[in-house]
Amino acid sequence: MADAVGNKDAKNYYLDTPVTDNGFFAKGLGNTDWGMKNRLSRLFNPKSGNTVMLAFDHGYIMGPTAGLERLDVTIAPLCEYADVLMGTRGAIRSCIPPTLNKAVCLRATHDTSVFFDDMSVGSGLGCDIEDAIRMNASALAIQCFVGGAGERDSLETLCRAADAGYKYGIPILGVTAVGKEMERTPRYFSTASRLLAELGASFVKTYYCEGFEKVVASCPVPIVIAGGKKLPEQEALEMCYKAMASGAHGVDMGRNVFQSEHPAEMMSAIRKVVHEGFNGAEAFEFYQDAIH
Ligand code: R5P
Repeated sequence: MADAVGNKDAKNYYLDTPVTDNGFFAKGLGNTDWGMKNRLSRLFNPKSGNTVMLAFDHGYIMGPTAGLERLDVTIAPLCEYADVLMGTRGAIRSCIPPTLNKAVCLRATHDTSVFFDDMSVGSGLGCDIEDAIRMNASALAIQCFVGGAGERDSLETLCRAADAGYKYGIPILGVTAVGKEMERTPRYFSTASRLLAELGASFVKTYYCEGFEKVVASCPVPIVIAGGKKLPEQEALEMCYKAMASGAHGVDMGRNVFQSEHPAEMMSAIRKVVHEGFNGAEAFEFYQDAIH
């Protein structure tokens, strides 16, 4: 049986060896069926292979945080710049026009709120598969607390969501949560990402870190990065660039967009990095030209 002690550390990531594509553009997903591939082609742009997701699901644990006080005012106008909208069913149904026709990655867990001592206690399914289908979801986002108090329950939730997702052809986004007391090391992110992929996630959201190319290489499905707390725009764009240069397939960013003074221009600059190969400096120059 696999053991926690005395193991040899991973060392050969074959960084120069391209991944076998199995006849489909999205990494590791060539053996899924037609409906799943069709949804993946809405989530990821088949030309660039990448995605710009707009995350505005924070209210389900944080309440009305800065930039999300009025979703109809701040988020609805930004949606046109995104490939994928990531939010809860409550937020999307009440504030986002269905006519936008964007792919939806539905936040499908409930978790503990910011008032709770240990936010890594875990989660359960926040909506069932029928409601996700009713929302025309292209993916379900399941938060997992690897190494936290909620590890067992949240991984169980991921597995059951993946069962339902495979049944109906809906990909699962496995989200690696970082709690107050939880590790934020490359080893943590690579272990958590790999676990979620092995348990059935079709793509994984994690955080950028040093050695990110190893996190990406050892995860058999696409990785997108969360943005984390608000950074100066130049730093956020540089982080996007570094993640993409390390092999990420896009971003699922929230606060670095909707807490920016110029969220639409920030989205456009992120698109340049993700879909057009701009580096951080080029994207920041684009951002500055756009805001002036
Ligand atoms: C957090 O509650 C959510 O999972 C967010 O979707 C995620 O953290 C991405 O948003 P941000 O870029 O603000 O970290």
